[in-house]
Amino acid sequence: MIHIDHVSVQRGAHEVLHDISADIPSGGITAVVGPSGVGKTTLLATLNGLLRPSSGAITIDGVGMLDSGETLRGFRRQTATVFQEHALIDRLPAMDNVLLGLADQRHPLSPLPWSRPMRLRAAQALDEVGLLHRATARTSQLSGGERQRVGVARALVRQPRLLLGDEPFASVDPALIRQLGNTLRDMVARSGATVILVMHQMETALSLADKVIALAEGRIAFDGTPRQFDRCCQETVFKTIPRGALS
Ligand SMILES: Nc1ncnc2c1ncn2[C@@H]1O[C@H](COP(=O)(O)OP(=O)(O)O)[C@@H](O)[C@H]1O
Ligand SMILES: [Mg+2]
Repeated sequence: MIHIDHVSVQRGAHEVLHDISADIPSGGITAVVGPSGVGKTTLLATLNGLLRPSSGAITIDGVGMLDSGETLRGFRRQTATVFQEHALIDRLPAMDNVLLGLADQRHPLSPLPWSRPMRLRAAQALDEVGLLHRATARTSQLSGGERQRVGVARALVRQPRLLLGDEPFASVDPALIRQLGNTLRDMVARSGATVILVMHQMETALSLADKVIALAEGRIAFDGTPRQFDRCCQETVFKTIPRGALS
C-alpha cells in the first residue's frame, strides 16, 4: 500500500497539489485521470521521489516514509517510470534504450558489454511490447507509438515492484493499447507489482484499472472503483469539463 497523507506540492511560486490524501493498494492498477494542467505529472513525480511534498508525507509499506536519501535510493531500485516525453536516447538502437533501464544494476564505469542475462531480459521486454523485430533499429527511426513502447519496455525490463506511467499509451494504436494493457495486467498478476498510470483515454482507464483517482484543481475529485466512477461521477465530477478536454 502507498499512503498519500495530506500532501501538498509546490512548483515554482504555485502550489499545484493541495492537501491530497489517498491510499493506493499494492498488486493492482490505479489510473490517475483529470484535465490537462491539473497536477497528474506532478503527483507521479512526487510518488517516485523526484519532487518533495511541501507538506504531508508519502509512506510505502515495507519501505517507509519517502523523506530521506537512503529510503529514496532503496525505493528507486524497485521502481520504474515511463516518462511522458519518453526520455530516450535517439542515436542508440531500441535495445540499448531498453538496457538503460538496467543502468543502476551494473557498475557505472563497467567497461564490459551488457551481460547476456541482461540482454535476454531486454529482448523479452521488447517482445512484450511487440517490438522485438525493431531491436536493432535506431531509436530516431521509430514512430511516436514505437518510441513510446520502447519507453514501456525500458520500465518492464526492471521487473519493478512499482511502475509509474505518465500517459504511456498516448500515441499508441487502440489495438496495441489493449495488448500493452494485458501485458501490464499479466505483470501485476505474476509479480504482485503496483502500477499507477496517468491516462487521458477514459475508456482505457476504466477498463484497465482496479482503482481510479480523479484530480481537479489540484485536489482529489474522485477516489474509487471504475464502476463507481462510471455510474455517478463522470458527469458530476467533470460536469464543467467537456469530455474531449480530459488529458
Ligand atoms: N517545472 C515546473 N515549474 C513550475 N510549474 C510547473 C512545472 N511543471 C509543471 N508546472 C505547473 O504545474 C501545474 C500542473 O502541471 P502537471 O503536473 O504537468 O499537470 P498535468 O500532468 O495534469 O497536465 C501546471 O499549472 C503547470 O504549469
Ligand atoms: Mg502531465
